[in-house]
Amino acid sequence: MAEQASVNRIAVLVSGGGSNLQSIIDKVHESDIAAEICCVISNRKEVYALERARKANISAVVVESRIYAERSLFEQALLGELKKQQPDIIVMAGFMRVLSAEFIAHYSGRILNIHPSLLPDFTGLHTHQRALAAGRKRHGCSVHFASAELDGGPLIMRAEVAVLDTDNEETLALRVLQQEHEIYPLCIQWLCEGKIKLRNNEVFYCNEKLLEPLTWQNEIDCK
Ligand code: GAR
Repeated sequence: MAEQASVNRIAVLVSGGGSNLQSIIDKVHESDIAAEICCVISNRKEVYALERARKANISAVVVESRIYAERSLFEQALLGELKKQQPDIIVMAGFMRVLSAEFIAHYSGRILNIHPSLLPDFTGLHTHQRALAAGRKRHGCSVHFASAELDGGPLIMRAEVAVLDTDNEETLALRVLQQEHEIYPLCIQWLCEGKIKLRNNEVFYCNEKLLEPLTWQNEIDCK
């Protein structure tokens, strides 16, 4: 990545509507991310993310997780598709499967995930509902290097939103999603540029070890 002369190839893994995928497609088209999306792979059929990929002339592939009796078999199939495409970077964008350590090892330091909470709080599902139920005043989203833990792995950046007294799950989810669409393309761009690296399971930003995750719009410029 980055040091390479060629353009990075990004594979995006999805399971749903693909609004994050769309934000990445848009940033690639606007040349903010110097990369090519080589494929979009969904573990579910007939999700709108696949349609978004086709509309952007990106190869859209289904590797249906539910037809495999074991995770290892699903991962073998997924790996088979990825090997055809030879991506440099894997981006999980609303991909609702946890990948094994063996799988992650194939792409160590090259797999990102986004999650709609201020990690390490609220891993898993229904994050907005749970943040509201817990009476949180701040909520948000996080980008991290993926690990074999559910929504685990070294954190890169978080974006916060204030929780309003008038918020319900939908209004809060919408504001968090808007932040996701800002920070995920940015972190992907930085990974492509080599501005972010994973070394010994620690995140380096501009060659400095991150002592805590970056905060959206408060990041230090390292040029
Ligand atoms: C996003 O909110 C993303 O953060 C979340 O799924 C949604 C997908 O939306 N991912 C997770 O919860 C991962 N644990 P999208 O399909 O519109 O991008």
